[in-house]
Amino acid sequence: MKGLRFVGTGRCVPEKVVTNDDLSRLVDTSDEWIRTRTGIARRHFSQGETAVELCTAAARIALERAGIAPSEIGVCVVATCTPDCASPSNACLVQAALGLPEDIPCFDLAAGCTGFVYGLETVRGLLTVSGKKYALLIGCEQLSRVLDMTDRSTCVLFGDGAGAAVLALEERMWYAWLGSRGNRDVLWLNGPGPETTHLHMDGPGVYRFAVEALPACARTLLAGSGLALEDIRWIVPHQANRRIIETAAKRLNCPIDRFYQNMERYGNTSAASVPIALDEMAEQGLLQPGDRVMAIAFGAGLTWGGALFEW
Ligand SMILES: CC(C)(COP(=O)(O)OP(=O)(O)OC[C@H]1O[C@@H](n2cnc3c(N)ncnc32)[C@H](O)[C@@H]1OP(=O)(O)O)[C@@H](O)C(=O)NCCC(=O)NCCS
Repeated sequence: MKGLRFVGTGRCVPEKVVTNDDLSRLVDTSDEWIRTRTGIARRHFSQGETAVELCTAAARIALERAGIAPSEIGVCVVATCTPDCASPSNACLVQAALGLPEDIPCFDLAAGCTGFVYGLETVRGLLTVSGKKYALLIGCEQLSRVLDMTDRSTCVLFGDGAGAAVLALEERMWYAWLGSRGNRDVLWLNGPGPETTHLHMDGPGVYRFAVEALPACARTLLAGSGLALEDIRWIVPHQANRRIIETAAKRLNCPIDRFYQNMERYGNTSAASVPIALDEMAEQGLLQPGDRVMAIAFGAGLTWGGALFEW
């Protein structure tokens, strides 16, 4: 089976930090409410940085850590629902900024917060058919641009950032599963154009979906790969909400300390949350070669899915 190896990762978040107390000066909320309902303490909001700048900075770090030259990249995908413009894609603008080759596909992929996981399976397929070895996959969102800062039920949840990975197609363990349940009522971004765009959400509806989708996806990955939960060193879930992750862990009967969590520092960065988490984990030495990792995510679409791989 041909799978992906993470050769290098990187992340970039905007400089500006917005705390729960900052938000409580804008809407009727409190640090205590946000922390206990979500596990979030702060997030980063862009102030002048473009999405392409965040993507490019994260990608440069990933390339440098991988020791891979831009000329070796065989496909570039940016998972995002908040690109700088509808066209050209963020991926094409990253291609220009990094000097990626011209004989490769570059495009954005919209699968809500599941975007990075969708991207993994997408680049794996494209590398397989092209015969090229390396992919550059980036998850990036600037949700601060589309938040209604008068709606306390959504504006406290999200943050901006980018996470990038250089991936190599190799003979190695890999199992992925992707799903979708077309639905416009639970989580959606209207548009077009940032001025008129707002993110809308039925919070309890998303919550119910997530606590069903995450454990179901984990079980599907285990059944498909023939592995047991004990064989998995880390579960890296989409960082939407601590209570969702705790409920999923309970339903799976899995110790919570095997779930990596960093939403406290970033909020929900949508398609960027899984690659930012992986990058932090790699930096902290939490991921060792051979560790089995399960990345699982859910989001607008509705979409959900996961990938099981060896670090
Ligand atoms: C959003 C979420 C935290 C709300 O928590 P909840 O316990 O379900 O709260 P409810 O939506 O039932 O609202 C309870 C009360 O808190 C209020 N509330 C909502 N946001 C608030 C905030 N930021 N501060 C204070 N109160 C708030 C509501 O207005 C409501 O008040 P009311 O009872 O007077 O009407 C929760 O539904 C959730 O985590 N959903 C998933 C969201 C998510 O992860 N989205 C991204 C998916 S990719």
